[in-house]
Amino acid sequence: MSVDQEATFDLIADRLAGERWLVIADWLEPPLQQALLATSRQRAQSGLLSPARVGRADLLHRAPDVRGDAIQWLEASDSAGCVLSLLQRLDELRAALNERLYLGLVAIEAHFAHYPPGARYQRHLDRFRSDDARALSAVIHLGEPWLGEHGGELRLYLEGPDGETSIDLPPAPGQLVLFLSGEIEHEVLPTRRDRYSVACWMRQRPM
Ligand code: OGA
Ligand code: MN
Repeated sequence: MSVDQEATFDLIADRLAGERWLVIADWLEPPLQQALLATSRQRAQSGLLSPARVGRADLLHRAPDVRGDAIQWLEASDSAGCVLSLLQRLDELRAALNERLYLGLVAIEAHFAHYPPGARYQRHLDRFRSDDARALSAVIHLGEPWLGEHGGELRLYLEGPDGETSIDLPPAPGQLVLFLSGEIEHEVLPTRRDRYSVACWMRQRPM
């Protein structure tokens, strides 16, 4: 690993240990961002993404008012090189943070998400009450440059000295947002145009 990369991993680990969240602009280089956008868009248009569901196991159900995205889980056997590159990048990040934060991150899971116009994902925590395997959430935003009128911000709810505050992150293409899955509640505000992202969780136990 290069000195640069090591320094970036150190910075990420410091920010997670302190603020519990951070955003890195342009984490993906433009060609990889564009390839992932083209792949997820094409798969969404071909009907390969399925409406996301909420709840756990036997209680899974569709609730488009709560969560309106459609997803496709990413596998190591994916046919697209850009997907394999992304999974590799995320796994390198997992290993680097594991060394620094002792979170016991042993595996990752990730999916493409497409939010059509009007879709949102109401306030939630990524860690389930019945299963605390998800330790770290990573969201990578894909798309064309984003304007305020497009909506679809990722809102993080944070504990400030004077109580709860929130911050709205426009889904800028190529950025990485990291936060502790068990601590940071968040939501996706209604989007006014097609919105693509990859959601990834670094797990304390394999699936
Ligand atoms: C999720 C999620 C955020 C985003 O899928 O759990 O919170 O910005 N996604 O896509
Ligand atoms: Mn989430």
